[in-house]
Amino acid sequence: MTGGLRIPDAAAGARVLAFGDYRPARIVTNDELAETVDTNDEWIRSRVGIAERRIAGDDEGIVELGAHAGGKALAGSGLAPSDIDLVILATCSAESPMPGYAPQVAHRLGIDAPGAFDINAACAGFCYALATASAAVRAGSARNVLVVGSEKMSQWLDWTDRSTCIIFADGAGAAVVAASDSPGIGPVVWGSAGDKYDKIIIPTRHSFIQQEGQAVFRWATTAIAPVAVEACERAGIRPEDLAAIVPHQANLRIIEAIARKMKAKDAVVADDIVQSGNTSGASIPLALSRMIERGDVPSGAPALLVGFGAGLSYAAQVIQIP
Ligand code: UT7
Repeated sequence: MTGGLRIPDAAAGARVLAFGDYRPARIVTNDELAETVDTNDEWIRSRVGIAERRIAGDDEGIVELGAHAGGKALAGSGLAPSDIDLVILATCSAESPMPGYAPQVAHRLGIDAPGAFDINAACAGFCYALATASAAVRAGSARNVLVVGSEKMSQWLDWTDRSTCIIFADGAGAAVVAASDSPGIGPVVWGSAGDKYDKIIIPTRHSFIQQEGQAVFRWATTAIAPVAVEACERAGIRPEDLAAIVPHQANLRIIEAIARKMKAKDAVVADDIVQSGNTSGASIPLALSRMIERGDVPSGAPALLVGFGAGLSYAAQVIQIP
């Protein structure tokens, strides 16, 4: 045989058709946590920015959370389940390492036999999954992709450890990615710092989330803004032209520091952490979905997404708001 193999025609670009979100019904306030651990509402609000968070019930796992958010995104996209060729689910709070959750979420949504796999890039997971979905659509490997970030962090928390149990929470967010004539998902800037692998860690299967809060805080407030600015440059967007900045909802002080350093004075900055806590790989689509629903951000305008966390891993891209 001479010459290369046949490959599909490439699409000019990919874009997000719709977002969806799901927050479990149970609200846990800071005062409620203060009944069981030595903390208080004032400390949590001033140091982390959280007023309350959502915690999933025993009957809600990563599949249920993800299917709720994915179903909402699918409905918003106007596509049928049969239009989806690939489902990618980002999570770092798996109840068990196999099977993956993406095939089960697809099955719940009536998506028949799609490609389906999970990825784990912790709190950056959604941005990694979105970049992978965009690449798959542009390469012709899938017509449309359902991307889900679904986390049940509560099952990996030591509820007597005040340094972590007040931070992390449960929820899911999703997006439907389709081909488009003009690109609506910009190039991803992604990277990692594996030398810092132990800064956020679940060391064994019988242990809980541990983090060196101050070390991660320093890293997030120094290393991440340049990544976000580079994502803007690669997409041909000036930070000051952004309509929204949607960082991973780790800590309101980190979010505000990233936004300040980006000098995007007119952008709406996501602050969903106040109501939803830190939902790791779900936090970015949860936040943006709500901003869109509230009418906080205009359709078609550029938004910067940036995820960062355990790994340490990070990723950022600019997208057009659906
Ligand atoms: O999503 C993945 C990425 N993760 C992150 O980005 C996390 C980054 N780090 C952070 O967000 C912050 O470091 C934390 C929120 C984790 C902690 O805030 P901090 O301002 O760095 O507090 P700290 O750990 O320096 O602790 C300050 C004090 C300590 O007391 P002393 O030693 O000064 O007497 C802690 O024992 O606050 C104490 N403390 C608390 N007090 C009341 C720690 N946790 C609590 C608490 N309530 N829940």
